[in-house]
Amino acid sequence: MIPFVDLAAQYNSLKTEIDRAIADVIGNSAFIRGPAVAAFEREFAAAVGARHAIGVASGTDALNLAIRALDLGPGDEAITVPNTWISTVYAVSHVGARPVFVDIDPATGQMDADKLERALSPRTKAVIPVHMFGHPAPMDRITAICRARGVSVVEDIAQAPLAEVQGKKVGSFGDLACYSFYPSKNLGCYGDGGAVATDDDALAKRVRCLADYGQTERFRHAMVGWNSRLDTLQAAILRVKLPRLAGWNEARRARAKRYGELLAGLPIRLPREAPWAKAVYHLYVVEVDRRDECLAFLRTSGVMAQVHYPACVHLQPCYAELGYRPGDFPAAEAAKDRILSLPMYPELTEAQMRTVADALAAFVRRG
Ligand SMILES: Cc1ncc(COP(=O)(O)O)c(C=O)c1O
Repeated sequence: MIPFVDLAAQYNSLKTEIDRAIADVIGNSAFIRGPAVAAFEREFAAAVGARHAIGVASGTDALNLAIRALDLGPGDEAITVPNTWISTVYAVSHVGARPVFVDIDPATGQMDADKLERALSPRTKAVIPVHMFGHPAPMDRITAICRARGVSVVEDIAQAPLAEVQGKKVGSFGDLACYSFYPSKNLGCYGDGGAVATDDDALAKRVRCLADYGQTERFRHAMVGWNSRLDTLQAAILRVKLPRLAGWNEARRARAKRYGELLAGLPIRLPREAPWAKAVYHLYVVEVDRRDECLAFLRTSGVMAQVHYPACVHLQPCYAELGYRPGDFPAAEAAKDRILSLPMYPELTEAQMRTVADALAAFVRRG
């Protein structure tokens, strides 16, 4: 069986360090806001090239806090893509603002900057590009469009830490950058975790305050906030893993390249990296005919492929009131029926990749 990700393989390679980090936290009983949290925030900010990083409870919370920090509310609109994980959109809804979608560029699966330009309205207060699958969104164009109109940019980097656009890291383009440390992410902890990064001192202060019950000092609540903190145990685990992130991303890129060689010649569409992009392959997403049949065939063959995601957010029942219809975003809607995420993780072996490629070839040949 080829798992979709293999978290045990990664743990085994780091076991001594991780076990020691966990034991230290337990030994110190510094479970909440222990020293590992501040240390990780400093190290993570340096790794992603931001002035500030604030550890929070999840990627979902990172988005919620970022949108709230920008003061979006009823009457405002925020634009994102329909092929994202739903948390991106919930962040807009939870402050009472209206989510607006733009279609993706079918070549990259990312926000189509031309369509973004047409979707902006006088009510648009923020744009949330999502670096889907680990491939960056076209941030040069998106930020140029937004800056010209005074629209804020919140980057959803849950799937793409350290990806680059023209040699510049994602997260350094927008006003705020939101990260998820969900266990299977490129940098994953052993539960939920997330971070908001920014160069803006005032926004950093607001996010930190909102995440800490809205406190500006102990027992003084200046804003209606939340309790959203990165757990000390998770921070300690993340400190062990962070120095490996760049190497793991390179291992993912090498495996993407190898998949490309093994799958060349099959009538399936392989992921392509735009000439301006450096992707970090959180997911390796191919497009196939008869996707559901193919997925079932692979699983029967022991290849645990997945689909990210089988439905578009604008057509989810919870968003019926927004009034979108099938056909509104043809590129995203066409892709959702064809996309298939193959097993991808830094420890994936040559033999495992061959098994995946052989199973896909067998499906295609079977007709
Ligand atoms: C694009 C995207 N945004 C947001 C999230 C939410 O992150 P979390 O699961 O840490 O809440 C995820 C991952 O689940 C994601 O893939």
